[in-house]
Amino acid sequence: MANMRRFEGQVALVTGGATGVGYATASRLASEGAKVVITGRRADLGEAAARTLTEQGFAVEYTAGDVSDELSVSGIFTHVERSYGRLDILVNNAAAFQPIRFLGADRAAWRKVFDIIVDGTYFCTQAAAQLMIANRIQGRIINVSSINGARALEESSHYNAAKIAMDQLTRSTALELMDEGIRVNGVALGFIDTPMSVVDGVKEHETEWFQSIYAARGKIIQRRSGQPEEAAGVIAFLASEDASYICGAVLPVDGGLSVTF
Ligand SMILES: NC(=O)c1ccc[n+]([C@@H]2O[C@H](COP(=O)([O-])OP(=O)(O)OC[C@H]3O[C@@H](n4cnc5c(N)ncnc54)[C@H](O)[C@@H]3O)[C@@H](O)[C@H]2O)c1
Repeated sequence: MANMRRFEGQVALVTGGATGVGYATASRLASEGAKVVITGRRADLGEAAARTLTEQGFAVEYTAGDVSDELSVSGIFTHVERSYGRLDILVNNAAAFQPIRFLGADRAAWRKVFDIIVDGTYFCTQAAAQLMIANRIQGRIINVSSINGARALEESSHYNAAKIAMDQLTRSTALELMDEGIRVNGVALGFIDTPMSVVDGVKEHETEWFQSIYAARGKIIQRRSGQPEEAAGVIAFLASEDASYICGAVLPVDGGLSVTF
């Protein structure tokens, strides 16, 4: 844990914050002084995550929310406003991924991914910006994207298309929200060891194809997958004043994978 308190007195909302990168981000922001609200659809996971972090002495709570549902998003932000009266940091992290070949992707599978990643980012960014502006907060918004937004990968056309749409939202909202003093940036993650990277019960980075292509042959320059904390550190950096001159950027956090495309 870094020996810094960059977010003292600030309030952060992390979507999909009960697991993986979202959980590590909630933990990191809270460890640096932020009051953190994690939201997600699974109350059991959300409450357990908030409890674990609270037991570590951090100010973290869970509130139920589905980012793909406009009404639910409105409820999340009403809760944040009533409980804290401000929002400084939004991390648009929620996503879902099920591998599916393009020809097998029916409308429902396609919509589900877009509803969470693209519509969810739109709903939350708009609501967060309104709350930040109303309270004269120089807010920061960080979108958690994927290097898959910039490359073709089998069985993920829906997800890849949604992530590049998210990157475009990062750039476009960065431009428009700067007038209000809000900085928007993103991270494009490579292989990170989280629940999402477990496919059919097997951890991606333990598969033969990962070990041979990405590790042994060095397609990932660092020859390994990343840990959620390594993504969280960059998200916290973007949310901090250390990144005061970074705006509209989507930083790769991928051990060098995007360099060898
Ligand atoms: N793990 C990787 O290798 C990897 C690679 C690239 C990008 N990412 C991105 O990182 C982010 C975090 O994913 P992760 O790897 O930690 O996986 P994860 O599955 O642990 O996290 C995703 C979280 O989003 C939540 N969620 C799903 N639908 C939601 C909804 N409608 N409303 C609210 N919450 C919802 C899930 O319950 C889960 O807690 C995602 O945006 C993902 O696309 C991950």
